[in-house]
Amino acid sequence: MYNYISADRVQSGYEAWLRYRPVPGASMPEWCASIAVTEADEILESAVQELERGIASLFRLRPSLIRQRTGLIREYTGSIQQAAATTDGGHILIGTFAGNPQVRQAFTEAEQEQTAEEGYRIRTNVEDGSVTVAGQTAKGVLYGAFHLLRLLQTGADVQKLDLLENPSNPLRMINQWDNMDGSIERGYAGRSIFYKNNEITKDMGRIRDYARLLASAGLNAIAINNVNVHRVESQLITERFLPDASRLAAVFRSYGIRTFFSINYASPIEVGGLATADPLDPEVAEWWKQTAHKIYAAIPDFGGFLVKADSENRPGPFSYGRNHAEGANMLAEALQPYGGLVIWRCFVYNCKQDWRDRSTDRARAAYDHFKPLDGLFHDNVILQVKNGPMDFQVREPVSPLFGAMERTNLMLEFQITQEYTGQQRHLCYLVPQWKEVLNFDTYARGKGSTVKQIADGSLFGKSGTCGIAAVSNIGSDANWTGHLLAQSNLYGYGRLTWNPELSAEGIANEWIRMTFGSNERVIAAVSRMLLDSWSIYESYTAPLGVGWMVNPDHHYGPNVDGYEYSKWGTYHFADCSGIGVNRTAAGGTGYAAQYIGPNTELYESLESCPDELLLFFHHVPYTHVLHSGKTVIQHIYDSHFEGAERAAQLMETWMELKEELEESVYQQVLERLEHQTEHAGEWRDMINTYFFRKSGIPDVHERTIY
Ligand code: GCU
Repeated sequence: MYNYISADRVQSGYEAWLRYRPVPGASMPEWCASIAVTEADEILESAVQELERGIASLFRLRPSLIRQRTGLIREYTGSIQQAAATTDGGHILIGTFAGNPQVRQAFTEAEQEQTAEEGYRIRTNVEDGSVTVAGQTAKGVLYGAFHLLRLLQTGADVQKLDLLENPSNPLRMINQWDNMDGSIERGYAGRSIFYKNNEITKDMGRIRDYARLLASAGLNAIAINNVNVHRVESQLITERFLPDASRLAAVFRSYGIRTFFSINYASPIEVGGLATADPLDPEVAEWWKQTAHKIYAAIPDFGGFLVKADSENRPGPFSYGRNHAEGANMLAEALQPYGGLVIWRCFVYNCKQDWRDRSTDRARAAYDHFKPLDGLFHDNVILQVKNGPMDFQVREPVSPLFGAMERTNLMLEFQITQEYTGQQRHLCYLVPQWKEVLNFDTYARGKGSTVKQIADGSLFGKSGTCGIAAVSNIGSDANWTGHLLAQSNLYGYGRLTWNPELSAEGIANEWIRMTFGSNERVIAAVSRMLLDSWSIYESYTAPLGVGWMVNPDHHYGPNVDGYEYSKWGTYHFADCSGIGVNRTAAGGTGYAAQYIGPNTELYESLESCPDELLLFFHHVPYTHVLHSGKTVIQHIYDSHFEGAERAAQLMETWMELKEELEESVYQQVLERLEHQTEHAGEWRDMINTYFFRKSGIPDVHERTIY
């Protein structure tokens, strides 16, 4: 029954950071020999199983299970020796304050109160040596169990534990962009693990393993289908799919994760056979109420709807002359009786722009659409805002909607899948980028009004209806993410949503230890690779915040003019004398004025605008001198030559680890790094050549440009 971790799973990377390899020199703490639990609860059951599995794998001794309520000791038929069922010498006691008197006794009332709904406490009992993992809810206990395992896995000191952890963000969500035909929009790691041939998968084992990964990183919500809801997916809310969807939801529920659906705004027409989807039409509202009723009958803890409306050709309230608040509130009323949420995306812009039109600016669109609606959304509506005003570029400013919507619930949206950051063929550890966004000061309530305080609800006094979402980077590839090192982004995202104060380095370190073990050479080298990778990717791709120099549609590889004469609103305006988009209020599109005071000043002025965002906000001559002292054109040349070299160094660093790593792990990452090295050279040559030909200005170092 418990074969714990099979060799091919290990070699492929399938076990990811839940690999639990023995820590050299670490002996099993006595309390790992038994796990005591009294409450019957499916999430606690998951916690027990995780502890059993982790400890058995770490110490090659399977803990015995003491169910104090019934005295039952679980039958065991595995190959790893089982410890004797005893509470002498300590054990792990897990449970909730309310449900287990022994757990309650371990903490004062104040300590219990300080523990948030999904938080936990872990404490060593000095008298009997046992360790208690406690929470208000079973979810909290599950997160605590994963924390305890993380400590054991990373070789931390577990002698005398006493810790409290509460999550910062109420919603810690993952968005799958999976389609029912099995494809994944912007997926770079194989096919969908959720769908195949227009059916929901029957392979709940893989779904469960995904739920384990998500919960272990602290995530608690998932939208299971693409925000672009096509014909078949529109049926997810009907009897055709609800029975299977409820099975999926049950698996996620057992790991404390609530299921959401992306819905098609035109469902009343396409699914319900009505003549309209007008949100103010009583028949439409009634249809959604009945639909909500059916969904909750199948999935009692259903989270709600994620909605992409009036965006990139998706239907929405605009067709009926209604605004987004009217559109979202109607759905919110249907979900409200069940405690459901409407997560409404702000990725709304004109995707049929004429490139000759210099007055329309896509960057302005979300703010222009939503700012006037502040305060008009129902309490169970949350607006989901992408981190930047464009679309997940390697470098963008932070969306000015953060700070602008004081009376509306907001969620921040990141993209873990590396659409514009190397598609999991290039290494790009995104945690440093996300941290910059979270730490960005909006000045909404004066200095120190950061994005992370808006996401977690504290700045504007929101509770519960806020948080962070991100587009997943996993698929059916054996190692989940295609590039093994891209697992760090999924893990890092979860950890950061739990606690945005964690450092990018600290998270990398945890992930490396859990994934690769405790070899200090490996830890130091991989950590350096991860932490340098975003800056490396940025330096050989799009310079100085300009973005979009990619091939149209699939968005991979260099193409400077790929989007220059398109309808998508993404231009760089390079000509023979200069480059960049003038987004100032003085003479530009006025985007810079969407920020609050000090930020508007920062970006508006050529003198103060940070180099890395210069071309996002200003059109300048190639001879413009940056703060770095270089001209724009020389910066472009230098950063591309250096970037390609640094990409090659990533590969060399990895090659130095050959003897320290398992062959299968070494090889699969090496292949990606080889490709990255070569492809970075392609980027370097194309970008440099393009700008040399445009500007006619030679490289001062006379390196090869074609
Ligand atoms: C990007 C991406 C699309 C996606 C969209 C969205 O534009 O390329 O594939 O649908 O974002 O976030 O809705």
